Amino acid sequence: MAILQILDDSNDVLRKKCREVTEITPRILTLLDDMTETLHRANGAGLAAPQVGVLRRVVLVEAEPGQLYELINPEIVETRGEQCEVEGCLSLPHQWGTVKRPAWVKVKAQNRKGEWVFYEGEELLARAFCHEIDHLNGILFKDKAEHMMSAKEIEEYFSQD
Ligand code: CO
Repeated sequence: MAILQILDDSNDVLRKKCREVTEITPRILTLLDDMTETLHRANGAGLAAPQVGVLRRVVLVEAEPGQLYELINPEIVETRGEQCEVEGCLSLPHQWGTVKRPAWVKVKAQNRKGEWVFYEGEELLARAFCHEIDHLNGILFKDKAEHMMSAKEIEEYFSQD
């Protein structure tokens, strides 16, 4: 496994639409493994392939430590409700903002065996699914943010806990 470099938004790659994975090759499996190691090292809740420079529809979500979702060709197939909470992104260090997302989502994706699976999530997990899948279409959370927090607001927010 290897730690990959996480690109920041000065890089155009983050704005590209990713291509579908048509065959789960050893290369895709290595990508999943390397992305997992990279995500853990960065202590994030999710990571999308374009963030490590790979324009393929592959994302990881780990909203709760130890609960890792590997999603290949993911799609949101159903949503319910609404939430508006604070988000950040490993590609946008020091930027935080509130984003409106569904309160609950159902996601369809392929696992590493190529099987189609469904996952449901609410709260942070729902937000992470939406945030990471947006990356595959070149969308960053700041594009959708209701409000981007000022340095003072960020400081206050993180000193709460
Ligand atoms: Co992100």
